[in-house]
Amino acid sequence: MPITLTPRVLTAAEAIDQLRALRARQPVKYWAFYSSQLAGIVTDPALMVLPFDDHMVHRGHGIFDTASIVDGRIYDLEAHLDRFLRSAKLSRLVLPCSREEMREIIVRTTAASGKRDGSIRYWISAGPGSLGLPPVAGAEPGFFVMIFAGLAYPATWLTEGLRVMTTTYPIKPPLYAITKSTNYLPNILMQMEAQEAGLDNGVFVDEAGHVGESSNMNVAFVTEGGALQHPKFDHILSGCTSLRLLELARRLVGTVLRGVEVKDIPVADARAAREMLLIGSSVKVAPIVEWDRKLIGDGKPGPAARALRELLEQDMHTGKDRLIDVPY
Ligand SMILES: Cc1ncc(COP(=O)(O)O)c(C=O)c1O
Repeated sequence: MPITLTPRVLTAAEAIDQLRALRARQPVKYWAFYSSQLAGIVTDPALMVLPFDDHMVHRGHGIFDTASIVDGRIYDLEAHLDRFLRSAKLSRLVLPCSREEMREIIVRTTAASGKRDGSIRYWISAGPGSLGLPPVAGAEPGFFVMIFAGLAYPATWLTEGLRVMTTTYPIKPPLYAITKSTNYLPNILMQMEAQEAGLDNGVFVDEAGHVGESSNMNVAFVTEGGALQHPKFDHILSGCTSLRLLELARRLVGTVLRGVEVKDIPVADARAAREMLLIGSSVKVAPIVEWDRKLIGDGKPGPAARALRELLEQDMHTGKDRLIDVPY
């Protein structure tokens, strides 16, 4: 839609028509949206909006997290809620309601979507009331839940593996890296930079020369000796998928793996790995076969990536204590 140079004042009905037209020009797979500001759920994407002066919109003062819907059940929501509440605390956000109430709203919004597979993303915002920096006195924190199709990646990521580069953008300082806030500028710039170089994604390296993480995923390695090595979580986001995989991976020790370690990983050591993995809720586990134009191992997806992915898939379907039934 070209920008109009002679904008006029719209009626409420005309404004909603324009929001619908925007969605018609660019269709999205957003199925249900809860907003504490609406005190309800909407299923028309045109109505999935926030007041512009919410500080999450114009200052980035908000946090979020994402969980998966697998075959009509929500996977590992408690781990995601743990991280969500940690991020809220680190961001000094006021909780809009209790953890139990948030969980209930998430489950009900999922049910309202009617979808049995997809993603759930939820946010806490500082709330509207000014265009300043700190929240205004009496600002009502917002709580939002979006049920959507989830991020999709090329099938070749699994069959052929990914190619990544060390980003030229600096890694977030630890406090901001461990907080899942709506400030993703370094992560976005890293992914754009990689894509412009014809690659799939980037990797942050910290000032000490240790491996960090990717744009919205963690990375891990399998050494020549067979140890699964994951960077420590003090300077990167503690991925719920990584944390679970580090537990599940113990089942592979003695066959595909020799051990499981969480440690600082110098880049030089990482480059000598037999396998490199990309790990996250959206990608699950995918093999990285090339880093900075150099092959990892033999440059082909390896057995640990495959075995870990299978373990995770199985857990997502059968991990009884980690699945919540959705009352559709
Ligand atoms: C920066 C960053 N690192 C790692 C992850 C992986 O976390 P998870 O496994 O919980 O999806 C994410 C995704 O949330 C992320 O945004």
